[in-house]
Amino acid sequence: MRNCSIVILAAGMGSRMKSSTPKVLHQICGREMLYYSLKEALKISDDVSVILYHSADKIQEVMQQHFPKIRFIRQDYENYPGTGGAIISFLKSYTPRYPSLLILNGDMPLVQAEELQQFLDTNAEIVMSVLRLQKGDGYGRIIMQNGQVKGIVEEKDATLEQKKINIVNAGVYLISCEVLQRFLPCLNNNNAQQEYYLTDIVSLALEKKILLQPLEVKEENFKGVNTKLDLSIAEEIMLERIRNYWLNEGVIMHQKESIYIDERAEFIGECEIEGGVKIFGNCKIIDSIIKAHSVVEFSEIAHSDIGPFAHIRPQTQMINTHIGNFVEVKKGILKGVKAGHLSYLGDCEIDEGSNIGAGVITCNYDGKQKHQTRIGKNVFVGSDTQLVAPINLADDVLIAAGSTITTDVPQGSLAISRTKQNHKENFFYTFFNKEKK
Ligand code: UD1
Ligand code: CA
Repeated sequence: MRNCSIVILAAGMGSRMKSSTPKVLHQICGREMLYYSLKEALKISDDVSVILYHSADKIQEVMQQHFPKIRFIRQDYENYPGTGGAIISFLKSYTPRYPSLLILNGDMPLVQAEELQQFLDTNAEIVMSVLRLQKGDGYGRIIMQNGQVKGIVEEKDATLEQKKINIVNAGVYLISCEVLQRFLPCLNNNNAQQEYYLTDIVSLALEKKILLQPLEVKEENFKGVNTKLDLSIAEEIMLERIRNYWLNEGVIMHQKESIYIDERAEFIGECEIEGGVKIFGNCKIIDSIIKAHSVVEFSEIAHSDIGPFAHIRPQTQMINTHIGNFVEVKKGILKGVKAGHLSYLGDCEIDEGSNIGAGVITCNYDGKQKHQTRIGKNVFVGSDTQLVAPINLADDVLIAAGSTITTDVPQGSLAISRTKQNHKENFFYTFFNKEKK
């Protein structure tokens, strides 16, 4: 295998996305599209650059957090628009470390390093990715003559006859830097989009008998994302990859098609996930069961069972805990807790052996600020209790059902705060003017 430098083209406007967010920053399974192509690129090269123009500062700022060693280069878009213009700008401001350049697109989040490596297994001076499709719509068509590639014609420049061609340019190439240096100055922008097309290099090089090898690639891996529909299709494919990865790592999934798992999520030990579960952010789930239709966000869950229909919001950490249906936890530290039904537990710490009854609410917000609730060991909080934070319930405390608790409760006490029940005898009969039988 030969070494190569890699450049990722990401200067385009992405206007078909109809969004104020730059195209390559649109997310798939919690990560920006460009993140995925960069991650794969770094598996095969230590010389990786990204070409930017539209929203360049924003894209660079986001990507630098993940990949501090990547080089970002601005395209001279005013003078050299187009994919060819991007490479002209690149080679004007940087000399690649290796003699061959692998050219990728920032809007192809599904590319796989393994497949890209095939480009490096050949000796041709140009290796060009080719797709054989049912219909070539949206792609540059590959013009063949006597079984040989002659060139590429962009859809916008194609004749009706050429549009029928179903062998298309997937948009990824390995080209020797020498060939680029020689033919880039010959590019022009005499075409429908008045852009410098990188694809014109192919016909120019072929005229000069440069060795070109077409490489048929997998459609799934080379899907370009140009619209929100493409984005959702790409996310489905990525999700399937993520789920299959974790299934192979030993996670049990029921109705896996309905499960959403963020790229950042991690499972350790034996975990089980039921249908409709959504896991967002860098969750860590250890030996736990997440039951149907629960949502878990940026949290750590160990040796616990959650749901069905539970919502675990960011910065929650729980161990040996049971969370039942319609319980919402936010920034909760729960150790050995049972909260079986219909509760809101926000900004709280709850210790071992404590039981939270149905309908218990931590009133954590006073309209201005958030406050903390602390519940010690072996505390029994009766159903339908409001805990008005900031508040501490010490160890071995009992709270009577239906209480509104506004002051700290000392160790071992029962707290009860509700109106006394009284009975008005025979009220029903006088009220409805009926006879008692
Ligand atoms: C390009 C190819 C087409 C191929 C298709 C595969 C050309 C002329 N056409 O078309 O043959 O079938 O990809 O997906 O190359 N970009 C820049 N600077 C620019 C313009 C674009 O960096 O001035 C970047 C874009 O951000 C994008 C990539 O290059 O990541 C491809 O650009 P796009 O406009 O999507 O090209 P296509 O029309 O899809
Ligand atoms: Ca594209």
